[in-house]
Amino acid sequence: MATETPEGHPPIDWSKWEPAGEGDVRSPCPMINALSNHHILPHNGKGITKGQIVSVLTKSINLDSKIANVFATGALATNPDHSAHSFDLDHLRKHGVIEHDVSLSRNDIAFGDNHSFDKSVWEGVMKSYGEKTETDFASVSKARYERVMAAKKAHEEAGKDFQYGIKEFVLSYGESALFLGILGDPKDGKIPLEHLKVLFEQERLPYKEGWRPLEQPLTQTQMNHLIFSLTTANEHKAAEAAEVGLGTVHAVTSAVTSILPSFCNVM
Ligand code: HEM
Repeated sequence: MATETPEGHPPIDWSKWEPAGEGDVRSPCPMINALSNHHILPHNGKGITKGQIVSVLTKSINLDSKIANVFATGALATNPDHSAHSFDLDHLRKHGVIEHDVSLSRNDIAFGDNHSFDKSVWEGVMKSYGEKTETDFASVSKARYERVMAAKKAHEEAGKDFQYGIKEFVLSYGESALFLGILGDPKDGKIPLEHLKVLFEQERLPYKEGWRPLEQPLTQTQMNHLIFSLTTANEHKAAEAAEVGLGTVHAVTSAVTSILPSFCNVM
């Protein structure tokens, strides 16, 4: 069940929202950009410390602090100044740290811009949902896998190297699990497609459309459940396991159940 703000945290005015302006920087992450657009993270997208982003993610959208810490550590590693204690949102486009090929709404680095919202990539993903107005595990899994296949084909046709191994697999499933868990109920994989579109297309939390922050933090166990449900819903899971070099569906399951430790190892 959702609430106005996570218990014990001051209310957030989710109606406060302004897109990036002159001199502001943004990232390939729709959620982090949205939090800057809502002025919850710095609106200019600059000088964000690890403590600051962990605090924002736990207080505003109720992400478990351990998960927030893993991503925040990755974020800091993207700053070209390795002695810095903060990062700017445009640092996050650094390929191979968190940013990877096969994004749902961004193009791949081999084709130039790996960080700006790409209407044509996103529309291809939305097409997978057909006439649906609500997600389920099967449709989210199908949309994600079709994007992987489309990216693979585009690389082959252009004679470019396609990067889709275990790291990209984990991150890509993890990101679909994150939007299901944060925008909906961490158990059932159902969110209104309209909410997903608002997050990706406008980089805004769909508060006025009815979304409310989770009452309890989204935990690693819940993330494992979401990712496991997504991988098992993929009717091409055996082919995908072979593609990423895991060999068997069983190996995919093992990779998934140790998902957050894997995040730590691959970053
Ligand atoms: C410190 C926290 C976070 C950092 C540093 C971060 C960073 C990133 C980065 C660099 C990407 C690009 C990956 C790619 O190439 O596709 C990304 C994608 C994504 N992130 Fe985040 N993220 C964070 C938290 C979150 C949270 C809490 C959500 C919750 C919904 C989220 C949702 C997503 C989604 C859905 C994508 C995939 C975008 C796409 O495929 O086009 N992120 N994130």
